Amino acid sequence: MNEPVTFNPFVPSYRKNPYLQLGRLQARDPVHRSDALQAWVLTRYDDCQQVTRDVEGFSSDARVAREALEAAARRQGITDAPMGLRLPSPGRSSRTLGEEPTVIGSDPPGHTRLRGIINRAFTPRAVEVLRPRIEAITAALLDEQPATGTFDAVEALAQPLPAIVIAEMLGIPPEDRTKFREWSRVIAGTTDLVQTPERIAATQETTRALVDYFGGFIAERERAPREDLISTLLRAQDEGGRLTRNELLGFCILLLVAGNETTTNLIGGGLRALLAHPEAMATLRAHPEAMPAAVEEMLRWDSPVQGLVRFSRNDVEVGGTRIPAGGIVICMLGAANRDPAQFPDPERFDITREDVRHLSFGYGIHYCLGAPLARAEADIALRAVLARWGTVDPAGEPEMGGTFLIRGPQRLPVAVAP
Ligand code: HEM
Repeated sequence: MNEPVTFNPFVPSYRKNPYLQLGRLQARDPVHRSDALQAWVLTRYDDCQQVTRDVEGFSSDARVAREALEAAARRQGITDAPMGLRLPSPGRSSRTLGEEPTVIGSDPPGHTRLRGIINRAFTPRAVEVLRPRIEAITAALLDEQPATGTFDAVEALAQPLPAIVIAEMLGIPPEDRTKFREWSRVIAGTTDLVQTPERIAATQETTRALVDYFGGFIAERERAPREDLISTLLRAQDEGGRLTRNELLGFCILLLVAGNETTTNLIGGGLRALLAHPEAMATLRAHPEAMPAAVEEMLRWDSPVQGLVRFSRNDVEVGGTRIPAGGIVICMLGAANRDPAQFPDPERFDITREDVRHLSFGYGIHYCLGAPLARAEADIALRAVLARWGTVDPAGEPEMGGTFLIRGPQRLPVAVAP
């Protein structure tokens, strides 16, 4: 029981299936000290929930993060670009780059203020209004595919749909979409475990381009507001005042990191789950209204965000282990979602599960602001695929992509027929 369990997310098999290693950790060393990552790796549901709930004990703040990362790098004897340590949660990149606190990278009271203002514009109702547009974009994307034949569902649908939706929300004109998608792709790569110097340079360059682009965009809307999210956010105000121009800039960049690849992974991963479970696909064909519940199971079964990063402010006990102050703590949401103490028979993909309280959108004060949008996109996209084709089958092995913290298919070949 007490012999050390090894954890090595760098091996190629981890990307294919992380749950073997994560399950072993969960059973034998749930609060694991990883020398390779210089971090604590948590795999139990209760422990991940405790850490994300305890904002006094565990910080999301960029400055705290930087100190912890630098200390870890020194311990490893690395002075520059510590491998595996540059990458916290989706969005962390925007804090190291923009230097402006973002909602995802701040603690109360700063977080409370930012979230309060952003919430005014980012409501579930705003998503309901978007539904017809999401349906139209989905239909247009599927129109480009054959009635009978094969295609890559990631390239055709899972990848472009969230990117187009966010671009439209922000008011990016169609002629800038290609550029915008390329930027999103580079920015999403900042969550990878291994950051090569080339990658870091590309990220910095892209961030500069984004800052220029959105800077101009915001200035235009300050002069002449339109019907888009940026104009709404410029107007949005509560007791905490308004967003500064830099805060708005940081938020725009954050949306690219937090909202694009994650949703791509949910749509691609969800379809992959259905292809692997034809009986579930058949049920959903007969009962499309069961799709929202199925989407929750997709989120649980293969979490698009696999890990959230926090920094311990004090010595804190988690699951019977003392985590010292200044520690990097990674809550492995994908593992927590398969914790048998929380979900009976957790490996089983079961769209009839009730009350699926997964942690895939986080927990507590940082709970995903885009959850209603992500759910709506997945619901609409997957329903549309089943409604359009009488058969949808795998046409080869899916290729799993993503990073240590983000997971989803990079290629998902499907064969369709009327
Ligand atoms: C399936 C898709 C998505 C997943 C799995 C996901 C997951 C998450 C998670 C786990 C967090 C918590 C981060 C933390 O505690 O450190 C989060 C926060 C956030 N997400 Fe999402 N997200 C998704 C889609 C989106 C979309 C579409 C948007 C916006 C368009 C978005 C915007 C945000 C924002 C702004 C935050 C920060 C909230 C805060 O710090 O108060 N997300 N997301």
